[in-house]
Amino acid sequence: MAGKGLYFSRGRYALGEAYRRAGLDGNSALLAPAYHCVTMLDPALALGSDVQLYPLSTDLVPIIPALDQLLERSGKPVKVLLATHFFGFVRDFSGLKQWCDRRGIVFVEDCSHTLFAEPYQAMGTGQQGDFVASSPYKFFPSADGGWLYAPNPEKLAGASQSAASWLAELRGIKHCFEMARQARVGPVDIENLDQQLASVAGKLPEAGIDQRRIRPAQSTQYQPDLERADAFRSSRWLINHQSVSAIISKRQANYRRWLQAMEGLPNCHALYPELPEHVVPYMFPLYIDHPMPHFHWLKQLAVPVWRWDEMAVSDCPVAQDYRLHLLHLPCHQSLNDDEMNWLVAALTKALRASSNGVRQ
Ligand SMILES: Cc1ncc(COP(=O)(O)O)c(C=O)c1O
Repeated sequence: MAGKGLYFSRGRYALGEAYRRAGLDGNSALLAPAYHCVTMLDPALALGSDVQLYPLSTDLVPIIPALDQLLERSGKPVKVLLATHFFGFVRDFSGLKQWCDRRGIVFVEDCSHTLFAEPYQAMGTGQQGDFVASSPYKFFPSADGGWLYAPNPEKLAGASQSAASWLAELRGIKHCFEMARQARVGPVDIENLDQQLASVAGKLPEAGIDQRRIRPAQSTQYQPDLERADAFRSSRWLINHQSVSAIISKRQANYRRWLQAMEGLPNCHALYPELPEHVVPYMFPLYIDHPMPHFHWLKQLAVPVWRWDEMAVSDCPVAQDYRLHLLHLPCHQSLNDDEMNWLVAALTKALRASSNGVRQ
């Protein structure tokens, strides 16, 4: 597969290039998952295209029968369909690809959450997409790195990427060193957790105004001047020289550590309670019953936890539910035992703590 791909600074720009090459423009529409990170839609909005959001099942698999209805409803012809292997759990997109082929729609496979890069492609990924976009920087210790692959190399012909300046390149290298030197937690930090939790649990914040996007709008996380920027040379080197097997086994071990911690834990459940052997997890998706107060407490404890609360409004009940209830917990290979112990302790203490004043 080497040599067939194009590098970008992030996966969103690889997606943008795929959309552009697929002919997406102001007179056409993108079909995208209702559960999404805004950066999946940004590049389509930058091209001026419409976005239609399709529904997903509870395990985040596209509901194919709903797609025809959306096609009929779309004011503009649909040119591209985007589908994601969420959290690294590889899906069989062959039915989706057939659906696209029958209608002349370009299928873009989103491998941003899978280990999909020049030296390694997770089993079952990159098989169906006319274009496949990924985010190697999420799996490798590089300062940046998005990648666009097409099984037919002619689809990537005529690329005009611009290389980073040497100053930007040096900043990238500095960033890598800083990441490696980040402050670490230790056993004493675990001992302090009870006290920290007691202090944050005492005061519930006022409920804010939950502002929603009725129509998708481009976010500030998309920078048009990076559309054609190549990944740093140092990133490309790192991506191609890391031990992939070490990355895989550490991520899988961290995921299993989370699963173990879930046993008997109240107020939550793992979205994917099994880790198939071939899956290289991106994050550990956790459904929590009471985002308020539990998400708030986790944030107050400085647990690195995310959710996609900026997503656009859709008719998909799963996306609407997961927007506030589905948390993304880290399982990155760089987490050492002390850090995993601290993360697990913080999560289990917060979720076990009484949730008086629970709000949805
Ligand atoms: C599913 C998915 N696809 C695409 C992207 C865009 O990736 P990147 O951060 O590399 O631009 C993201 C962002 O996190 C994502 O979560």
